[in-house]
Amino acid sequence: MSGSKVPWASLAKSAERVRGRAHAPYSHYRVGAALLTTGGVVTGCNVENASYPLCICAEGAAVARAVAMGRRRWRALAVATPGPEPGAPCGACRQILAEFAPPTLPIALVVDGVVVRRTTLGELLPLAFSGKTLDGSVKEPEPT
Ligand code: THU
Repeated sequence: MSGSKVPWASLAKSAERVRGRAHAPYSHYRVGAALLTTGGVVTGCNVENASYPLCICAEGAAVARAVAMGRRRWRALAVATPGPEPGAPCGACRQILAEFAPPTLPIALVVDGVVVRRTTLGELLPLAFSGKTLDGSVKEPEPT
C-alpha cells in the first residue's frame, strides 16, 4: 500500500505516546514506534541498559512484540523521536524490519506527535539482504 489510506495522525499519536514510556536514562533520547498491523497497532519504545551495547531500539521492540502476538502483516510504521530533526530508523532496525516487511512499507517520521516526513523501507534500505538472497545462492561446500 502506498500509505494513502493509513490513519497517519492516530498512528503518529500512538508512536508519540509510547515514546513517553521509553527507558533512556543514558542517552535521554526517547524513541517510540507504532506498527500498524492488519490486527491493530503494536508499539515499542527504546529500552536502554547500563551496559550500553545492550540497548534495545524502539523499532526492534515493536517488531518483537508484533511477531510474538502473531501479527506479521504490516501496513505502516510511525517512528517518534525528539526534534527538531526527526530520527530515522538505524541501520540495524532497517534490517530487522526488512525480515518481515516489503520495500513498499510506508514509514512516517514523527516529531511532537506530528508526521514531519514520509518515506518507505525500500528508500531507507535499498538492495536489502534477505532470506531470498540466501535461497537463491549456490550452496558452497564446507572447506575440508
Ligand atoms: N534508537 C532507537 O530506538 N531507534 C533507532 O532507530 C535509533 C536509536 C535509540 C537507541 C538508544 O536508546 C537511543 O535511541 C540513542 O541512540
